[in-house]
Amino acid sequence: MKLVFIGPPGVGKGTYAKAVSEKFGIPHISTGDIFREEIKKGSELGKRVKEFLDKGLLVPDDIVIEVVKQRLSMGDCRKGFILDGFPRTLQQAEALEQFARPEWAFLFQARDETILERLGGRRICPKCGAIYHIKYMPPKVPGICDKCGTPLIQRKDDTPEVIMERLKIYREQFTPIILFYKERGRLVEIDANEQADKVVPVVIERLRKLYNV
Ligand code: AP5
Repeated sequence: MKLVFIGPPGVGKGTYAKAVSEKFGIPHISTGDIFREEIKKGSELGKRVKEFLDKGLLVPDDIVIEVVKQRLSMGDCRKGFILDGFPRTLQQAEALEQFARPEWAFLFQARDETILERLGGRRICPKCGAIYHIKYMPPKVPGICDKCGTPLIQRKDDTPEVIMERLKIYREQFTPIILFYKERGRLVEIDANEQADKVVPVVIERLRKLYNV
């Protein structure tokens, strides 16, 4: 399965990608997670991308494309991959066709007010990457990761101003990418307004039909 998960910030791409990754045993690759990890490590790459992430701006194409190309060349991607948050520009979509053509692009959509509520209540585990929501997907013990016991944090770019900037960029830049996959007959549209426990089975069912598994 070579998949890309696209859609506005906070629609739930990471949540659905994690579930599909566990179900079918293919790696979940989030460009946002890679950048956050590099920033945490204080690496050269982290230093180059920090300013963009803090402001909610897109990281330049050449950097993102190189990072994804390297990650997809690793052994665990031989069976397939789920790319979450990539491509974000037409140039990224075109580059990806050259080195790892995705078979399907899953487009998730939800209303703006739903997205704002999801991002405002999101908490993440800085150690294992698990995603929670204070109302919709609360951890068993408030503020603590169910999987590894680490205290949860709020992402730096989940402030109202940065969320608005991310949504603005999405609206301005995303239509050509949706058309790119639609025109090639490889777009799968998913209504993500429902709770995650309703959306995930829909995604899995679509994949079962597409791949006959
Ligand atoms: P990135 O990390 O990719 O952020 P994003 O696209 O803004 O997406 P999010 O991770 O915020 O949302 P999501 O859709 O994964 O939602 P989640 O599952 O967490 O990118 C961050 C930054 O990195 C960018 O701004 C940019 O600077 C840079 N970057 C990354 N990729 C790049 C690229 N290709 N090019 C250039 N720059 C790039 O869910 C959100 C919340 O809702 C959670 O709390 C979750 O528990 C909850 N939830 C999820 N689904 C549901 C549901 N169905 N019902 C109720 N609650 C739900």
